[in-house]
Amino acid sequence: MLSKTMEKALNEQINKEMYSSYLYLAMAAHLSEQHLDGFAKFFEIQSQEEWGHAMRIYKHLNERGGRVVLDKIDKPQTTFKDLEEIFTLTLEHEQFITKSIHTLVDLAVKEKDHASQIFLDWFVNEQVEEEANMENWLAKIKMSGAKGHVLFMLDGHAGERKK
Ligand code: FEO
Repeated sequence: MLSKTMEKALNEQINKEMYSSYLYLAMAAHLSEQHLDGFAKFFEIQSQEEWGHAMRIYKHLNERGGRVVLDKIDKPQTTFKDLEEIFTLTLEHEQFITKSIHTLVDLAVKEKDHASQIFLDWFVNEQVEEEANMENWLAKIKMSGAKGHVLFMLDGHAGERKK
């Protein structure tokens, strides 16, 4: 059985993951409008992945006898200057999510909630991968200036993302 404190914190994380999904979908829509179809696909997949993260927590709450309480999802930013801004915002957002996951782990340890602690391990690892991936993209974009031929090449590469 989950404590009320853990239940509330996990519900807040569902909301953060759903906001992430919303934010990345807003980026995908903007990129599609800019005819950067590869990057648009990249962020559509990212958006779906975030929805999946929210659903993992949803299932954990259900399995542990917790109550899922959905809240309002904030409106995301919908226009962006360029790819550098998009990937800078993405990296910053992932760093924020990492902190949030680590706070949840601290809470699980404090409450001796071993099941939640083990459950959250997956998210700790996932955040390492997410940050590394976004840092890599941001570095490539900054290095190349992401203009002309290079932009086409990067867009093609981004569009190769499968999951
Ligand atoms: Fe669900 Fe990208 O963190």
